[in-house]
Amino acid sequence: MSQALPPIVLDHPLVRHKLTRLRDRNTSTAGFRRLTRELSLLLAYEATRGLSLVPRHIEAPSGPMEGEELDGKKLCFVSILRAGNGLLDGMLDLVPSARVGHIGLRRDHETLEVSEYYFNMPSDVPGRTCIVLDPMLATGHSAAAALTRVKEAGAKSPVFACLLAVPEGIAHMRERHPDVQIVTCSIDSHLDEHGYIVPGLGDAGDRLFGTR
Ligand code: URA
Repeated sequence: MSQALPPIVLDHPLVRHKLTRLRDRNTSTAGFRRLTRELSLLLAYEATRGLSLVPRHIEAPSGPMEGEELDGKKLCFVSILRAGNGLLDGMLDLVPSARVGHIGLRRDHETLEVSEYYFNMPSDVPGRTCIVLDPMLATGHSAAAALTRVKEAGAKSPVFACLLAVPEGIAHMRERHPDVQIVTCSIDSHLDEHGYIVPGLGDAGDRLFGTR
C-alpha cells in the first residue's frame, strides 16, 4: 500500500505574521478578508507546485528561446461552501484563468453523516487538476466527502488547501484519501469539544462574512 503524502506547511515569516493577525479576535471583517486573500495567494503558489509544463518556443526581445508553459486543461478551484469562497480571490489572483466549482455540504448533528446539497463543477472535469478549498481542516469529514465527489467527477491529482489544519482532520484525510496532498499555513493543536480548532481563528465563515 502506498504511503500517505505528508502535509505541506507553509513555513515563511510572512505567513506566520499574517496568520497571527488573522487569528487575532480584534481583527476587523475587512482585515480578515484581506489577510485571507493574501494567505490564499501564497497557498495557491505552493498548491500548484506539482503542475506539469511543456516546452514553448518564443521570440524574446534579444532572440528566440525555448520557454515553458502549463500543460493540459486549465486548473479548477473547488470551494466548499461557504467559507471556501473566502480562499477564491487570492487563488484567482495567482491563476486568473482557473475554472471554479462549488460543493455545498451539511452535517446531520445526530448521525454526523455529511450530505450534499449543492454540486456545480465545470462540465469537462476529467483530466483537470482540482484544488479543493476550505479554510479549516477540522474533523476532515467535509473535506473527505468533497474529495470523494471531485474524484468521482474525474479530477486529476486533487490537492486540498486550507489555512489551518489539526491532527484529527489530517488523520481522517490520510485514511480516506492518502493520495491527496494537503497544503496548509499551520497545523494547530487539536479540536475542542465543539469541533473548533485550538488555537484556531474562530468560525472562518462568520469572520469572513461578518455574520453572528
Ligand atoms: N470551522 C471553523 O470555521 N472553525 C473551526 O475552528 C473549525 C471548523
